[in-house]
Amino acid sequence: MVPLPVKEPSLLNHELIIILDFGSQYTQLIARRVREQGVYCEIHPFHLATDEITRRRPKGVILSGGPSSVYDEDAPRVAPDFYEKIDVPVLGICYGMGLIAADLGGRSEPAARREYGHAKLKVLSGSTRLFDGLPFELDVWMSHGDHVTELPPGFRTTATTGSVITAMENESRGVYCVQFHPEVSHTPLGKEVLRNFLFHICGCSGDWTPASFIKDEVEKIRETVGPSANVVCGLSGGVDSTVAAVLVHEAIGGRQTCIFVNNGLLRHREFEDTLAAYENNLQLNVRGVDASEQFYAVLAGVVDPELKRKAIGGKFIDVFDAEAKKIGNVNYLVQGTLYPDVIESVSLRGASVTIKTHHNVGGLPEKMDLKLIEPLRELFKDEVRAMGRDLGIPEFILERHPFPGPGLGVRILGDVTPEKAELLQQADRIFIEELHNHHLYKDVWQAFAVLLPIQSVGVMGDFRTYERTVALRAVTSTDGMTADWARLPHEFLATVSSRITSEVRGVNRVVYDISSKPPSTIEWE
Ligand code: XMP
Repeated sequence: MVPLPVKEPSLLNHELIIILDFGSQYTQLIARRVREQGVYCEIHPFHLATDEITRRRPKGVILSGGPSSVYDEDAPRVAPDFYEKIDVPVLGICYGMGLIAADLGGRSEPAARREYGHAKLKVLSGSTRLFDGLPFELDVWMSHGDHVTELPPGFRTTATTGSVITAMENESRGVYCVQFHPEVSHTPLGKEVLRNFLFHICGCSGDWTPASFIKDEVEKIRETVGPSANVVCGLSGGVDSTVAAVLVHEAIGGRQTCIFVNNGLLRHREFEDTLAAYENNLQLNVRGVDASEQFYAVLAGVVDPELKRKAIGGKFIDVFDAEAKKIGNVNYLVQGTLYPDVIESVSLRGASVTIKTHHNVGGLPEKMDLKLIEPLRELFKDEVRAMGRDLGIPEFILERHPFPGPGLGVRILGDVTPEKAELLQQADRIFIEELHNHHLYKDVWQAFAVLLPIQSVGVMGDFRTYERTVALRAVTSTDGMTADWARLPHEFLATVSSRITSEVRGVNRVVYDISSKPPSTIEWE
């Protein structure tokens, strides 16, 4: 991929908080809580050089939690000159607190066993800006990892739980620490604690909103693309690519061509309806390319899930490439990459393994030598939705469940044929329709039907049938990394099942998937 010569977001005119990541599962949550208060923040690896931090001129720095113990041999640490050079307030959370204690001459000790749980925190008398306006007793979510047992010189205890030091600070140095997690919902007043840090201690005013982001981003795109280049965007019908395309459209209008490929593996009427929405509501310059036949051709007889994914991804590149060539003078490709995909992950837990090959448009730039425009790479999904609303994108696109690039191709187990795709579209349509009818659609993170490669015996009227089975999958999740099967009401499932078996010819059995991720994945292939 070719990186773009764009300004770093943190050097734009916004107040900034820098979060140094020590590998906590909650680091992204800290970032979201900060941004919810209208303060822009960025996550960086714990070892970011101090000069890099100061160059960005942050209003404050937060050290996240993390799974290590400060006394581990290879414990992650801030850069050696961090304490001496950082002259803005610092908040240490959990591991961050233990690290600060150890680094500044105090002591923290590992708990016998690491546990998480509720605790009652007592704020000590004497004023502390971090707990300003809060009750003297707070419910908090604690991580029982290292505990500070000896304060560093110049620090005082500001809160305890039982005999444990739960918060400490050195106000003149601007260093504040909490052992608990203010970012999780189990700490009900955690938001106020962060608010105090951002507004009372760091002096932020809250100048970051989706609207201000849109304005900055549109200018940035205009500057990057220049006066004459053309841009292509691969639309998928989902939230991210749509918001990215609309932003680029605001910046350069008709010089962007959006390509929306029908691979024959989309949901019922998705191609037609989304295309109409793009054209009627958003005035985007969209080319709808119906390449279903080409996709079915490369999928004929392919059964292995990974081979299917590769066949679909490869064909997508061919179709996209051919369309881009027809446009000519194309230098840039727009992608809807989000912040969680680009945060440089801290490798405290070793390299992760590839469970499934994910085929987004990700493979395109290398092959096509295009430069990337990724206008959403600083945003979380909920921020993208908020911005989509500001940009007038229809609600049905913003609220749509995630849909995998290979589409129904990975939901038809066994080989893919047009007949099976049509049958699955019908079953899936009924499931989704009923979720809407029962006002359950927004309660689940993702829901869909899967066509199984088996037939079973049934009876219809006086006749024996030997037909297909459809599995229903519905999950709750926050990010798709882990998921639980949704506890949908039995009556609702009964309605869906009876509609599918009576309306979709060739299906005589419906089952509900009660597996969580892990050990299963959300998709079946
Ligand atoms: P799994 O099945 O890995 O899926 O638990 C997690 C989330 O990712 C989606 N998914 C994909 N999205 N291209 C995508 O854009 C893909 O190849 C792909 N495979 C899975 C899946 O629908 C779920 O939301």
